[in-house]
Amino acid sequence: MTGSAAGRVPRHLAIVMDGNGRWAKQRRRPRSFGHRAGQKAVRQAVEFCLGKGIGSLTLFAFSSENWQRPPAEVRALMELFVRALEREVDQLHQNGVRIRFIGNLDAFEPALREGMLKAMAHTRGNTALNMNVAVNYGGRWDIAQAAQMAVHAVARGEIAAEAIDEAWLGQHLCLADQPPLDLFIRTGGEHRVSNFLLWQLAYAELYFTDTLWPDVDQAVLADALADYAGRERRFGRTGAQVTRSLKDTHA
Ligand code: FPP
Repeated sequence: MTGSAAGRVPRHLAIVMDGNGRWAKQRRRPRSFGHRAGQKAVRQAVEFCLGKGIGSLTLFAFSSENWQRPPAEVRALMELFVRALEREVDQLHQNGVRIRFIGNLDAFEPALREGMLKAMAHTRGNTALNMNVAVNYGGRWDIAQAAQMAVHAVARGEIAAEAIDEAWLGQHLCLADQPPLDLFIRTGGEHRVSNFLLWQLAYAELYFTDTLWPDVDQAVLADALADYAGRERRFGRTGAQVTRSLKDTHA
């Protein structure tokens, strides 16, 4: 565990990309226009992470609750995802990005699901950046599916019920193989986590900015990292304990 974030870049950054709709409204354009502009900001975020050596980037692209949006907006988002898969995957692959879609993919049209699975298979050997795109994802769903796996494992006699602990459940969540979440950013001015990565947020640092997602550029992300670098991460310990353990580490 790291006591201080001083001078460090997060190993794992997660972003709730909020504000596309308001950005479009300000320009008297449909919400889908904002989502398309949001895709450009995704490129900026990927380049930023590659440049800073951030190992994992997890983006909330479509929550399990987003199906409740107007059908035309859901359709526009699905089309955007299909086009993004067609247009972006090769470039991402060339940049060494491993793409992973997390969430319940069963709900998507077969062609879109196939595209997601192909992109994952195509980039699985890449190591420069893990780009996790959360689609039809919810933090509660993630925990519930790990709990279901536990029930099945116990029923099959593979593990004793008493052995199902935090570590076991943590190993059966979508991002089990990735570093702990260090920094969570939400753009667009709202201060909530909206059922994203609930388990992983336990000890993440939270950063909120009013900037609407399509306006997010590398400077906005650099501000978030500078703020993160100034945080003292205590993980339940006292400040004095953290200082002492840092002194011991550097002695
Ligand atoms: C939230 O803004 C944004 C979304 C639900 C969609 C996010 C999708 C993208 C940025 C598109 C590209 C993504 C990938 C990975 C290709 P909102 O619509 O809730 O905005 P509002 O709060 O202003 O209404």
